[in-house]
Amino acid sequence: MYHNPSAISWKSEYAVRASVLKFHETLPYYGKTPLVKLPTELCERLKVGTILLKDESHRFGLPSYKILGASWGCICTVTRSLGIPQTALLSEIKQLVAVSKYTFYTATDGNWGRAVARMAGILGATARIYVPKIMVEATKQRIRQEGAEVIVVDGDYDMAVREAERAAIAQANGLLIEDTAWPGPLNLIVCPVGVGSLAQAVVAHYKSRDPLSTVMTVEPDTAACLKTSLENGQMTSIPTGNTTMCGMNCGTVSMTAWPFLRDGVDASITVTDDDSAKAQEMLKNLRISMGPCSAATLAALLSISGEEKEKLHLNCDSVVILLGTEGPRGEAFEMS
Ligand SMILES: Cc1ncc(COP(=O)(O)O)c(C=O)c1O
Repeated sequence: MYHNPSAISWKSEYAVRASVLKFHETLPYYGKTPLVKLPTELCERLKVGTILLKDESHRFGLPSYKILGASWGCICTVTRSLGIPQTALLSEIKQLVAVSKYTFYTATDGNWGRAVARMAGILGATARIYVPKIMVEATKQRIRQEGAEVIVVDGDYDMAVREAERAAIAQANGLLIEDTAWPGPLNLIVCPVGVGSLAQAVVAHYKSRDPLSTVMTVEPDTAACLKTSLENGQMTSIPTGNTTMCGMNCGTVSMTAWPFLRDGVDASITVTDDDSAKAQEMLKNLRISMGPCSAATLAALLSISGEEKEKLHLNCDSVVILLGTEGPRGEAFEMS
């Protein structure tokens, strides 16, 4: 486990913006997602007070939290381009988008692209979603089902990011929509990391309020770009392979996320596909259906030693929040 002892007292300047919640409330199927309390036996076994799983398997009709950031990202980008306030009504924005004929460009290794494609559909824009060569057909199909065009690049996620950006710049009415997002409460928050944008929001939020919380990130052992960067003290790109935790299969930390993560992440950990699968099974036995990225958070909590828990000030009174960022996937998603 990578540990940063000074992160416990690092303060973020972030202030919650009420306009973001207001906007989310206007979207179809808005609703709070549940915080599920895991059984006392598990808390006793792990010597913590309470474990709460934030269940993001149903968010605005999609099986992942991603639409939260994607929807707001789309609105910010579109309203900026139109020169109108972010608070404009969805119906007004739609009318202007119809005139401007925007195309949304983004890169994804799964949920994000689907969420951006869904938002393009809601706003009446078209979407071109760039995906790594390794992506399984079922994932591509789900993005296409949102009405988007899927462009497969001859390389990994990082290449998809570069190509999406290039294509967006090359087209007059192209808009590049990038990752962002997240709210919630206390103590130890375990966050899955791909490029680290979600973790950025987690750090910015939790480190801006008292009592201070600790943040632990988890990545696949085959895509540990954040842990490697933290250990090197600088952003470090790494080659990535295959993992069941697609969504977290990224080789470069987001440049905007890095300063937050470098200073505010207390602990960074990696887990294997096998660890995630075992944790997923454990949740399934508790009748909680979660995807591999979500299960990675429980796998991370299960893997830390007593000594590591002490470093993180975890004890029998601690509340642990696992960010269950996605619901279960179909067979075809399990492994490419
Ligand atoms: C389900 C899920 N969890 C976690 C992540 C990681 O988010 P980030 O790339 O912001 O670190 C992703 C990213 O796509 C995801 O789809």
